[in-house]
Amino acid sequence: MNLLIKQSQILLPDGSFLLGDILLQQGKIAAISEQIDPVDTSNTEIINGVGLVLLPGVIDPQVHFREPGLEYKEDLHTASCACAKGGVTSFLEMPNTRPLTTTQAALDDKLRRAASKCVVNYGFFIGATGEVLPDLLTANPTCGIKVFMGSMHGALLIDQEEILDRIFAQGRRLIAVHAEDQARIAQRRQEFAGSTDPAIHSIIQDNQAALNATQLALKLSKKYQRRLHILHMSTAEEAELLRQDKPQWVTAEVTPQHLLMNIDAYSKIGSLAQMNPPLRSPHDQEVLWQALRDGVIDFIATDHAPHTLAEKGQAENTQVPTASEKSSANTIFLEPATIPSGMPGVETSLALMLTQAMAGRCTVAQVSRWMSSNVAKAYGIPNKGEIRVGWDADLVLVDLKEYQPVIRQNLLTKCGWSPFEGWNLTGWANTTIVGGNVVYANGKVNEEVRGSALKFT
Ligand code: DOR
Repeated sequence: MNLLIKQSQILLPDGSFLLGDILLQQGKIAAISEQIDPVDTSNTEIINGVGLVLLPGVIDPQVHFREPGLEYKEDLHTASCACAKGGVTSFLEMPNTRPLTTTQAALDDKLRRAASKCVVNYGFFIGATGEVLPDLLTANPTCGIKVFMGSMHGALLIDQEEILDRIFAQGRRLIAVHAEDQARIAQRRQEFAGSTDPAIHSIIQDNQAALNATQLALKLSKKYQRRLHILHMSTAEEAELLRQDKPQWVTAEVTPQHLLMNIDAYSKIGSLAQMNPPLRSPHDQEVLWQALRDGVIDFIATDHAPHTLAEKGQAENTQVPTASEKSSANTIFLEPATIPSGMPGVETSLALMLTQAMAGRCTVAQVSRWMSSNVAKAYGIPNKGEIRVGWDADLVLVDLKEYQPVIRQNLLTKCGWSPFEGWNLTGWANTTIVGGNVVYANGKVNEEVRGSALKFT
């Protein structure tokens, strides 16, 4: 079936909107015009876009979907359904699964699993280990090499400068770093051992820990002119560093959480606010926003990192604790070191950012640049991220008039919670289209749709 979306506000690559029609044929955008009449009505499904805005599908460039090995938290099918609901039509997934994605064989296994169960498009990182496996140079297709400089991840942790230097020296493909200084974190964890205040997490893994690692990654990238991407940048200091000194082969991203939540979140949602790198101060948030608007930060990723409520210490008691509960032996107040860091995000990211646009903090065109076209450009994903004739029909129709709160019962992520529960958002996906097929509409995922493996040029 061809799809004809009638009379939506279509976001064009120059940031302007056209009130018009768009025809999708064989997975591609076939025509965009003020008015298109179907040649063959029997073969064309018509979608009424009146009152809706049509955007390129979101490409989320940092997610942890837990398959293989940790499917009790999430799997490629449930996560991709959550993507479809959130208007995310492509994702780039991280290698900290079980087994780790450090070989061509492990990458092939993920690609096979994704082909059989993902309702949106998929790409995968390959993980670097201290051993520096040859597959790091040759693995295909991959969006890049993931390096955990800190905050632990078993064999993926690389906190020695000599080993990092070797990785930066070999090959040319993109290196994406989780930049936190492990030695500093380990030392501060000892200093603050025993604290059960969830907010201690942001104090242990402080701004300096993030800055130290970002400085080191930048130094090595400059030494070898190596393509570097800084994942989930969280501090004012890192943003200022890049503002002063950002080679043209370096990119950076920020998460909606770091833009929209700060350390106050611990008193509201406790351990659910714990992620790596941690939430920061209102000042950091402001500087990150400005860096994003100025192009110092290139795009947005969710770092979707689901953990169960039981792991977060909140399986039974999901209420904000009272002062007396705090002083009792409440399981929410496990030592943060024993609680896994991370929060889900693919279902809410587009609506969160579009709500900011409607509040005047940025424009809808900027949101789309940060969540689609800039990501496609940075990772060399051809024919995606903009609405152009001949490009892939990965699209999302959003409603910018109605507001709906984030409700736990409506979530599709297997972990079943969101740090944004109760937030009243607009810009929810009305219809999501992947490869010319409707994958989400009328509040339902079409689980028959399959995405494709992304290509990286
Ligand atoms: O908070 C986080 N959790 N940050 C990461 O970078 C990893 C992630 C996870 O996999 O749980």
